[in-house]
Amino acid sequence: MLNAGRRASRGVHHPPIVRASDDHDYVLKLGDRDRDFPACELVAAMLATAFGVEIPPFALIEVPDDLRAVLALQGPAWADLAAPQPAGGCFGSRWIDVATPFTPLLTERIEDRDSFWRLFVFDVFIENGDRQPNNPNVLVQDRRLVAIDHGQALPCVQGLRDIGPFGHAAHVLWPVVAADPSRLAASARRLPDDRDIDDAVACVPAEWWADSGRPAMVRAALRARRQRTRDILDRLSTP
Ligand SMILES: Nc1ncnc2c1ncn2[C@@H]1O[C@H](COP(=O)(O)OP(=O)(O)OP(=O)(O)O)[C@@H](O)[C@H]1O
Ligand SMILES: [Mg+2]
Repeated sequence: MLNAGRRASRGVHHPPIVRASDDHDYVLKLGDRDRDFPACELVAAMLATAFGVEIPPFALIEVPDDLRAVLALQGPAWADLAAPQPAGGCFGSRWIDVATPFTPLLTERIEDRDSFWRLFVFDVFIENGDRQPNNPNVLVQDRRLVAIDHGQALPCVQGLRDIGPFGHAAHVLWPVVAADPSRLAASARRLPDDRDIDDAVACVPAEWWADSGRPAMVRAALRARRQRTRDILDRLSTP
């Protein structure tokens, strides 16, 4: 990472936006309030491809000690980034310059109509309740949906067994999906295979896990989540 620039204007955490050594800007998702947050982001980012869901390019970004020392002098605004970061780097989502948050008014702008159903199925699988109309965490870039912010998904990564039934009716895309739920079946065929799951879990630096038994628990939970997802989608597809 080369330098710290500004903070995102939205989101609970107003995450920092930094310039990395590849000359791109990244939104850094730090685990200063919830240590499982970066692992959720990374596992979700790794799985998105299997579902055909577009997310911004992502990278693990190291914050150099000398930059942290300078940031520590800037006061509370940069305290989270100035704090020692876990080994292995921080999750960075490449900043998309020209993008607007999705609203239902932009529905007709999206060219790839199936992308609504694919993103919805992805969220069922990762148990993501953080895609609501007042905070969609979906950007529209050109005429495409780009999903961001998966820090509160994947309860298994957070060491939780169950966070309750998937709240599909509150999902920002539900009105579009509900207009033709039969299209869910095609997206439901794109669930990740064992290899996708193993690769996603293996990507997480060991230091990010809260305990050493967590990766095995996550692999097992994600394998089981496939059938649970099919069951939920079956139910939602049946009028
Ligand atoms: N890759 C990106 N490109 C452009 N804008 C982004 C990107 N990532 C995040 N943002 C912007 O920064 C805001 C905050 O990021 P994000 O939603 O990931 O953080 P958060 O603090 O976890 O948010 P939340 O309050 O939804 O939990 C987003 O709402 C979005 O406006
Ligand atoms: Mg957000």
